[in-house]
Amino acid sequence: MRILVTGGAGFIGAAATRALLAAGHDVVVLDALRADVHGDRPAPALPDGVDLLRADVRDGAAVRDALAGRDVVVHLAAKVGLGVGIDDIDDYVSSNDLGTAVLLRAAAERVGAGQAPHVVYASSMVVYGEGAYACADHGAVHPPPRAETDLAAGVFDPRCPVCGRVLVPGLVAEDAPLDPRNVYAATKAHGERLLAAWARATGATAAALRFHNVYGSGMPRNTPYAGVASIFRSEAEHGRAPRVFEDGGQRRDLVHVDDVARAVVAAVERPQAPGRAEPFNVGSGTVTTVGELARRVAALLGAPEPVVTGEWRAGDVRHVTASSERAGRVLGWRAEVGLDEGLAALVGRL
Ligand code: UD1
Repeated sequence: MRILVTGGAGFIGAAATRALLAAGHDVVVLDALRADVHGDRPAPALPDGVDLLRADVRDGAAVRDALAGRDVVVHLAAKVGLGVGIDDIDDYVSSNDLGTAVLLRAAAERVGAGQAPHVVYASSMVVYGEGAYACADHGAVHPPPRAETDLAAGVFDPRCPVCGRVLVPGLVAEDAPLDPRNVYAATKAHGERLLAAWARATGATAAALRFHNVYGSGMPRNTPYAGVASIFRSEAEHGRAPRVFEDGGQRRDLVHVDDVARAVVAAVERPQAPGRAEPFNVGSGTVTTVGELARRVAALLGAPEPVVTGEWRAGDVRHVTASSERAGRVLGWRAEVGLDEGLAALVGRL
């Protein structure tokens, strides 16, 4: 197929581009090479045969040109991460919401000329807010954001909205309500809503891949937008102890970027029902705590034991781990890279 990958020069985009090429597809990349992602480094080398159109996804004319003759759009271009502060809010909304809207509008214009492209959208597990929880007395519940007083007292696990008991985390499935808890999460959830509206209006196919915590070589580092695995690696490489926030018990699903890239290929190759944006969790299926991740990265690099700081970040969720059963059943995808192998590769020991 002829595919446009927006954000194809980024961490996930580059891996997805390689995987799509390896699967025999023709790929064009549109990427603005944003300074807050790429710094002042030269443009990354894309694989042979892949053209880079350097443009912002909010540039409608550039997007229209890039879309010409494309059967599929993989929309990964976004401003990622938890953000530095609330003063990032307009940049997030502009980059992610407006960027998605401009892309979808250009893609809709293709309907008259023939078929609208199939769109695969990079969503995130952060759209769920807190993951799935159960209360011993009240069963499945959806907790509100954690109270500052609890966090300050070192009570990091969310409480039951009915009785206030601390909750037990479980695996979140795609039918869980969307409840974004920070600006980035709100833009990703809104992007999914826009995609669903677009699919209904055009009758085209679309998939929203809810990536869990993606890691792997090529991860951005030393930016406020870097993921925790990259931050821990960077500290440990410099002989410093990784700094673990909260009590280190927060649970995540770390999914290797090569598995994520394979999920993109599966979603590209298996469009589902026309007129719908189909959500899929993309996680490894393995639950890891942030404390455990820090210990493993430090040990692999011979760095000092992690320090558990008790700090917390506003807008952080406590536990989010997925069931990716649906992606297995519908897309025929499942993660293949285990955490031992993935972390060894991350720290350069493979
Ligand atoms: C991450 C991504 C988000 C993406 C989501 C799902 C970043 C910054 N965030 O969110 O864009 O949508 O995964 O793929 O890339 N922590 C520490 N020490 C540190 C830094 C963080 O203990 O030095 C803790 C945080 O408090 C949090 C956990 O590690 O509990 C994970 O943080 P982070 O890697 O930023 O990821 P998410 O917020 O889960």
